[in-house]
Amino acid sequence: MNQITGTTKVLGILADPIHHVQTPQGINAIFDRCDIDAVMIPLHVDSTSLPLLIPGLRSLRNLEGFVVTVPHKAAMLKHCDEASPAAAQIGAVNVVRRTADGRLIGDMLDGDGFVQGLQSEGIEVRGRSVYVAGAGGAASAIVYALAGTGASLITIANRTPTKAHELVERLSKSFPGVTMRVGTSDPGGHEIVVNATSLGLRPGEPLPLDASRLHAAQIVAEIVMKPRVTPLLAEAMQRGCRVHFGEPMLRSQLELMARFMRS
Ligand SMILES: NC(=O)c1ccc[n+]([C@@H]2O[C@H](COP(=O)([O-])OP(=O)(O)OC[C@H]3O[C@@H](n4cnc5c(N)ncnc54)[C@H](OP(=O)(O)O)[C@@H]3O)[C@@H](O)[C@H]2O)c1
Repeated sequence: MNQITGTTKVLGILADPIHHVQTPQGINAIFDRCDIDAVMIPLHVDSTSLPLLIPGLRSLRNLEGFVVTVPHKAAMLKHCDEASPAAAQIGAVNVVRRTADGRLIGDMLDGDGFVQGLQSEGIEVRGRSVYVAGAGGAASAIVYALAGTGASLITIANRTPTKAHELVERLSKSFPGVTMRVGTSDPGGHEIVVNATSLGLRPGEPLPLDASRLHAAQIVAEIVMKPRVTPLLAEAMQRGCRVHFGEPMLRSQLELMARFMRS
C-alpha cells in the first residue's frame, strides 16, 4: 500500500454495521495499482448520528468523497446538494463526491455496476427480457440501468407487491420504450433472471423465486456475493442454466466509484 502522508487524499465508506464491507480493499487496490495518492477508510456511523456527521464531512478539506451503503443509501440522498437523475428517481445514492467548496454530489451506481458486470462476462442486455426479483434499493437501481441499456421487457416481483407496483409506476414513465410490469414468483418466459433481493445471504433462507420454472436457455444472475454459489445459483446450475455471480457487479462498480469521487 502507498505510504499515507500529509498530501494523501481521503475517501470514506459509511455503513452500519461496517465489518463486512469489501469496497475499501477493492478501491485501495486500484489506488495502489494506479499509483494514486489516496486512501479509503471505513467510517462506522449509525442512522441517528448520520446527520451530525454531514457538516464534518463537508468541512474536511482533504476528503474527496465517500461510498454509502446499508442503511444510509436513501437517507444520504436528502443530504446531497445535487444528485444525478438516476439517484433522484431511484431515491438513493451509493456514492458521493465532495467539491472543493464542501458541496455534496450524489450518484447511484449499483445498476450501472450490475449491467457492466454482465457485459464484462459477455452478456448483453439490449433487446432482452429480464425478470428481477426484489424492489429494494439495489433492485430499483438495476431496473433503472436495465431499462436505460435497452432491455425490451422487465418484470419485477417482490415479497411486498406494493413496492414492485410503485417501482413500475415510477420508472416506466422515464422509459416509455420498455415494457415494465409486476410479476409473480414465476421467472418463466424471460431470457435473463436476476436475484436482486438479499435472499441467499443467510443459510436456510427461502429461494427468491420459483426455481422449478427455470430452464436451460435462461441466464440466472445474482447480486448476493457471499456465498459465491447461492442456493438459487445451485438450483440454476442443476437445470443447466448459465449463471452469473454477484462479484462482477462490485468489481465493475469499484472503477465507476473511484472515477466519480475523484472527478
Ligand atoms: N454485488 C454487489 O455489488 C451488491 C451491491 C449492492 C447490494 N448488494 C446486495 O444486494 C442485496 C439487497 O440490497 P438492497 O440495498 O437492495 O437491500 P434492500 O433495499 O433492503 O432490499 C431488500 C430486498 O430483498 C427483499 N427481501 C428481504 N428479505 C426477504 C425475505 N425474507 N423474503 C422475500 N424477500 C425479501 C426485500 O423485499 P421487501 O420489499 O418485501 O422487504 C427487498 O426487495 C444485499 O444482500 C446486498 O448485499 C450487492
